[in-house]
Amino acid sequence: MTDWKNPPRLFIPGPVKVNEDVLQQLARPTLGHRGKEYSQLHGETVDMLKKVFFTEQNVFLSTSSASGIWEAAIRNCVGLDEKVLCTMCGAFSDKWADVIRSCGRELDELKVEWGQAITADMIDEKLSSGEYSAVTLVYNETSTGLTNRVYEISEMMKEKYPEVLVFVDSVSAMVGLPLHFDKLAWDVTFASVQKAFAIPPGLAVALVSDRALAKGKEIPNRGYYFDFQLWAKSAAKSQTLATPNVPHIMALHYQCEKLLSEGMENVWARHKKMAEFVRLWVGEKFALFCDEHYASDTLTTVKNTRGINVAETIKAIQEKHNTIFGNGYGKLKEKTFRIAHMGDITLDDLKELLGWIDEEIG
Ligand SMILES: Cc1ncc(COP(=O)(O)O)c(C=O)c1O
Repeated sequence: MTDWKNPPRLFIPGPVKVNEDVLQQLARPTLGHRGKEYSQLHGETVDMLKKVFFTEQNVFLSTSSASGIWEAAIRNCVGLDEKVLCTMCGAFSDKWADVIRSCGRELDELKVEWGQAITADMIDEKLSSGEYSAVTLVYNETSTGLTNRVYEISEMMKEKYPEVLVFVDSVSAMVGLPLHFDKLAWDVTFASVQKAFAIPPGLAVALVSDRALAKGKEIPNRGYYFDFQLWAKSAAKSQTLATPNVPHIMALHYQCEKLLSEGMENVWARHKKMAEFVRLWVGEKFALFCDEHYASDTLTTVKNTRGINVAETIKAIQEKHNTIFGNGYGKLKEKTFRIAHMGDITLDDLKELLGWIDEEIG
């Protein structure tokens, strides 16, 4: 019998497996968040994050999940009379469009079939009308297991539309996939820590460009908890606006030390190796859901070509091995299933899981 005190090993695409040494960081004695010890923790963590994401600009820690930053990017950086081009290629990019509407901002949808990518040409064609002040992108669609070619898109943006702000959801990409924030010339990007940072949920990391911060000063009614201007004032003192999730920041500090000592190139290569291993198995047993040229290195969405009962397979593996992987997301339930290969998941972990799936499907 599994229950929350004897939880399953996680191969769902977030939250992912958290190692014992990381969990121990969450159990450290807490700190007063206005004291110098906290400022030291915060400052060191931000300095390391700047190296992880190759940026000299603003790094904020938000005691929220990533959805908060979906909203923050819009409320802080888009005026009420401005229009956003919202690119949509799966469940999460679709949801971001809903968030933008709920913030009372006008948007146009640039939508492709789930499993297809958004390309630089598609964005170029839409932006050529000159009516947009910002574009939203999802780096890695967690529903379809697809990675958009954000470097190509960013090159096009820099060359042709340098005035248009670029907001990128990097929730299931950050750490696992390359992210050179300054070189990409993005304005806001973010992730929650329960994905490739391999920390329990409860904290998000946001990178904000200097120009986005400057623009935000002119935008009224930004709210309080997610106001980048207030965040920047606190960040100047290596603090947060309100009481932060101190244990998570300790775990983040720990994970950043490990990432930097491994080297980001090696971290990305490790993710790629795990992804290639899973894709090889998928090629033999099933098929990829998305176009293979865009297949993600942090998770794989598998097309259920054999018509297996996904929920029953997950249940059987949970009962026998106390381990779960992900069913398809939303309308892709049973038509697909998802396997995470990010963060502190290892190749050995994946070999074990795929072996168990093999046993179930015969
Ligand atoms: C691509 C993407 N964006 C946004 C979210 C929402 O993140 P959170 O649940 O941390 O708010 C998720 C969650 O899985 C996601 O995968």
